Amino acid sequence: MGRRGGRVRPDALVLAIETSCDETAAAVVARDGRVRSSIVASQAELHARYGGVVPELAARRHVEAVLPAVDAALAEAAVGWDDLALVAVTRGPGLPAALLVGLAAAKALAFARGLPLVAVNHLAGHIWAHRLDDAPPLPLPAICLVVSGSHTDLCLLPEAGGLRLLGTTVDDAAGEVFDKVARLLDLGYPGGPRIELAARQGDAHAVAFPRTLRDLNPPPGRSQVVGGRYAFSFSGLKTAVAVRRQTHPTEAVADVAASFQAAVVETLVHKTIAAARDHGAAGVLLAGGVAANGPLRAAMAAGCGGEGLALRVPPPWYCTDNAAMIGAAAWEAWAAGRRAGWDLDAEPDLPLEL
Ligand code: KG4
Ligand code: ZN
Repeated sequence: MGRRGGRVRPDALVLAIETSCDETAAAVVARDGRVRSSIVASQAELHARYGGVVPELAARRHVEAVLPAVDAALAEAAVGWDDLALVAVTRGPGLPAALLVGLAAAKALAFARGLPLVAVNHLAGHIWAHRLDDAPPLPLPAICLVVSGSHTDLCLLPEAGGLRLLGTTVDDAAGEVFDKVARLLDLGYPGGPRIELAARQGDAHAVAFPRTLRDLNPPPGRSQVVGGRYAFSFSGLKTAVAVRRQTHPTEAVADVAASFQAAVVETLVHKTIAAARDHGAAGVLLAGGVAANGPLRAAMAAGCGGEGLALRVPPPWYCTDNAAMIGAAAWEAWAAGRRAGWDLDAEPDLPLEL
């Protein structure tokens, strides 16, 4: 293959490594997007008793788990080092110590095997996950909503390529509010899937929780882009759930969970569809861990259907953190000529960019 980028065989393979949070993941992904293997070693059990990710524990577990994950990814793909064209790794955003473990492993492996190294933006990984495994392309211009544990980013993907951030959250991220409300409801960690499960037995109309659908002022000192028509706020909703637990202590948790989830879903869909209308979008892309949520996927599909918008959402297992999405994004970075040096460092606050 051409090491200077450009023309690469469709069956060329990247080994991708992801350690930005509490999943130790490794994957082998072909240039055409086919996933040859995707290993995700979750640390959820390790952090569960603390009710959230403990960065130091996460980093230590990554140290133990990263090489076994790489070995498992190569074994499952039935390939050896000579079959690989490049090594890719998440450089940020994420927990600094956790990111450094993946970076050190990727650098050492690439250096030892004489393979080029590509650095990947974790959020770009969430976005490119929609092209894995022969999925159809996203019609442009498109509106993209990235909803994860630390991000709620609404963006425009123009026909000319690239990405423009339209709005973000002025307080909690969508995944964060799922996790915090799960704690309020004693549902445990990780919160998102627990709330979705509990909500299945509940009535989504039981409590009329507030929806922040209006335009929002940016917090003092923050750029205009975080405020405005496409900005999100979930802290009022979180407080409303906390107050409700105190005023109605015997109310069924399932009803509260279902009502809370409905409020988040309605807000996310409302703002996404508004942005799609305003920008004459042809498609909508839903990405990030919260995009694994069934009711959100269904409501977004209904909203897009009503507007004639093509919706793309990766399958749930490529929405939550994994390394296959890092492989997909790595091939895009490679095609754009991006290469990482041995001085590559972690970027814990890296903003979303393609
Ligand atoms: O993308 P991700 O796996 O990690 C980050 O980059 O943050 O997202 C994790 C977030 C967590 O807050 C988790 O509670 C949420 O995604 N999540 C869900 C679901 N699965 C994961 N939220 C709602 N419903 C789900 N099924
Ligand atoms: Zn993520």
